[in-house]
Amino acid sequence: MIVCVCHRISDRDIARAAREGCASFDELQSELAVATSCGRCHDCARETFLKHAVNATPVADPAARMACPP
Ligand code: FES
Repeated sequence: MIVCVCHRISDRDIARAAREGCASFDELQSELAVATSCGRCHDCARETFLKHAVNATPVADPAARMACPP
């Protein structure tokens, strides 16, 4: 599924970066440029990152959970 339309970043791209050791969402943004243009994908991208990051902490914001389709 494409998460970031502006930069054509999929959930798989985000998951791969997270598994390969991307340490934070900021670092993910630096690597993939996800959520750096219009920002509409920010919550979904963040949730996807946290779901796959090795040392991720759960998303506390319920609105962020709802932003990403299951
Ligand atoms: S959809 Fe991701 S920055 Fe626009």
